[in-house]
Amino acid sequence: MVKRNTCIFISGKGSNLKNLINKSREYNFPINVKLVICDNIEAKGIMYAKKNSIPYLIINTKIRNFENKIINELLKRKISLICLAGYMKIISKKFIQSFKRKIINIHPSLLPKFKGLNTFARILKEKEVKTGCTVHFVNEKLDSGRIIVQKIFYIDKNDNISDLKNKTQKLEYNAFPEAIIKVFRNS
Ligand code: GRF
Repeated sequence: MVKRNTCIFISGKGSNLKNLINKSREYNFPINVKLVICDNIEAKGIMYAKKNSIPYLIINTKIRNFENKIINELLKRKISLICLAGYMKIISKKFIQSFKRKIINIHPSLLPKFKGLNTFARILKEKEVKTGCTVHFVNEKLDSGRIIVQKIFYIDKNDNISDLKNKTQKLEYNAFPEAIIKVFRNS
């Protein structure tokens, strides 16, 4: 199996990064994690890159043209898939246009519902019956690209924000790998 070189973008805990690194060790999983990009020097997730000897780049998003620096790294390492896994910075239109390969994102709601931030608080406020996670292609509008995989669970009346987060993340660890397999199934 030809494994596609993949870059994971993170900003925080990195549990999806950890999960994808583990999956990539499987013989028939279609990616290798070749690079990690992070916009937060304090992100815990960086330790998974370090532990697994995966090159990583901590980007200062305050400097001009920081995206050019990222693009250069992606080209250098022949990256053909970007997975946004809890990356909190919005990817610019210019970046999307200049990276001609695939970019996918994981979002903790059933899109198109609850795009953007603070999803769990909003889900509770709206008294939703069910929620879940979505993996989708990234386009120029926030959380709006074509949906690849969704996973659903029913909300318990006692669930608080942290329950919703835990239940959603559990689903994410299956949803992201499934979406990656789907993305490459016919290519
Ligand atoms: C995930 O829950 C994802 O839905 C959201 O950010 C979170 C990242 O978590 N976009 P982690 O850093 O992978 O643990």
